[in-house]
Amino acid sequence: MYPDKKITIAIDGYSSCGKSTLAKALAKKLGYIFIDSGAMYRGVTLYCMRHQLILDGKPLNEKIEQALPFIKLSFIYNASTEKHDLYLNDENVEELIRMPDVASNVSHIATIKCVREKLVDEQQKMGQYGGIVMDGRDIGSVVFPNAELKLFVTASPEIRAERRLKELTQKGVSANFKTVLANLVERDLIDSTRTESPLIQTKDAVFIDTSNLTPTEQLQLSLTFVNQVLENCKDKTNC
Ligand code: CDP
Repeated sequence: MYPDKKITIAIDGYSSCGKSTLAKALAKKLGYIFIDSGAMYRGVTLYCMRHQLILDGKPLNEKIEQALPFIKLSFIYNASTEKHDLYLNDENVEELIRMPDVASNVSHIATIKCVREKLVDEQQKMGQYGGIVMDGRDIGSVVFPNAELKLFVTASPEIRAERRLKELTQKGVSANFKTVLANLVERDLIDSTRTESPLIQTKDAVFIDTSNLTPTEQLQLSLTFVNQVLENCKDKTNC
């Protein structure tokens, strides 16, 4: 059903809208690589928090730029979760980067130009041979502007907050709906209004509202778009 041709799939959208769940499921179905670019921004944020590079919620941009060469990020497959865990300087930080304290700082770190340049460069190298599904905020606009398929995913803020709260509760992290919702709304605002690579829906992206879709339904819907792209690619030499 899925031919040798391996395309690039860019998934962008608001916080906790189901992007990573969808990206992971698509990659599994297609036999592609899945990269959660948000994990990389979270990894840099954790490093900055540990090294006092954020003061009263404000990133110390110059010091962060000097620290960047010392921040090594990598993804290593974890067979028990069937996911790639993020490693920060060879330490598995997959759990730590999902904690609310990282969530409340990450969007500030993600506004910094040199941070974005470093991570975009690494992301482009990961996707240079295609066969990749990457989710984030600037994937269709900056990282892979020539991606064969771009999806822009959203859901209502309340539904997104409920989903994130459920995830945190399942991990044993105490959180409440109001705080989680406030964090999502704040991050959405910072992400879509920042100067460097703001979150936008590019003209060529397919819009998907997952508010009333189950993970299986959003996967099925997205696979119809994948199949359309692969069908269109059949007779073309340039895709
Ligand atoms: O999972 P969730 O939607 O909460 O966020 P994430 O994908 O883990 O991303 C965390 C934060 O990293 C976002 O709120 C953005 O500030 C930033 N980010 C970004 O700026 N560009 C990306 N490509 C991915 C994430």
